[in-house]
Amino acid sequence: MSNKEVMQAFDKTAGLYDRTVHRYFSSRRAEVFAELGKGRILEVGAGTGTVTEKLVKRGKVVASDISFNMLKNIGKRLKIPLAQFDAEHFPFKKGAFDTIVSGETIYYLDNPERFFKEAFYVLRKGGVCAVSSTNRLWDFLNTPRSWMINLINSSSLLSKAAKAVNWDYGWADEKQFYGFYEKKIKQMFKQAGFSDIKTKPVVIFPFSKLDRFNRELEKTFLGKVSLGKVVWGRKG
Ligand SMILES: C[S@@+](CC[C@H](N)C(=O)[O-])C[C@H]1O[C@@H](n2cnc3c(N)ncnc32)[C@H](O)[C@@H]1O
Repeated sequence: MSNKEVMQAFDKTAGLYDRTVHRYFSSRRAEVFAELGKGRILEVGAGTGTVTEKLVKRGKVVASDISFNMLKNIGKRLKIPLAQFDAEHFPFKKGAFDTIVSGETIYYLDNPERFFKEAFYVLRKGGVCAVSSTNRLWDFLNTPRSWMINLINSSSLLSKAAKAVNWDYGWADEKQFYGFYEKKIKQMFKQAGFSDIKTKPVVIFPFSKLDRFNRELEKTFLGKVSLGKVVWGRKG
């Protein structure tokens, strides 16, 4: 799917988003973003504003999204500046923001590396960019198709066999539609010029009733296998 097709898909389903979003997951990433957010904050891929609601308590927020219909939902909730643009092309000048936040959006992009470069450019020196992504480790839970892709990709024998018969079983998955490994996100931050890169695991068990337990587990080695990650870096 191209960025334009992703936009059309979100435009169509904008009215359903709040009913389908995982509330506990969403509130946990919003909490980390809010801790990091200050000053002039740009939110990219803001969706219907579930994270934005927390950010507005931390600074002056501009919420943006590629989908006009998703943005309209924010407009109903909050009286803040809204901007429609593609996360690969920011319409702002150098140093315009103190913080950039983007929840669950980078894996929809054709070229996520561009997002990090753009973010680096529009941040002021010392500014922070934070993104969240579901952990690619758990992709296989999403669909049998991605389970199959992961299985083939993880076995050199199966990969060779698929290549040998020219089987196009899903190379499209390179678009990382289902999330990134933490390592890849850190690499993209680094390549764009960010330093001081840090991560916070969010959610081991996707149940709000287990919130306290989750928070303890996330501090242990199990943090590595959390369902989501928030990763951030500083423009040094
Ligand atoms: C899964 S929603 C996440 C919404 C919100 N940030 C959250 O954390 O709940 C992904 C959002 O990214 C937006 N998006 C997808 N591709 C984009 C792009 N190329 N540029 C900007 N926004 C994009 C979608 O329209 C959608 O609102």
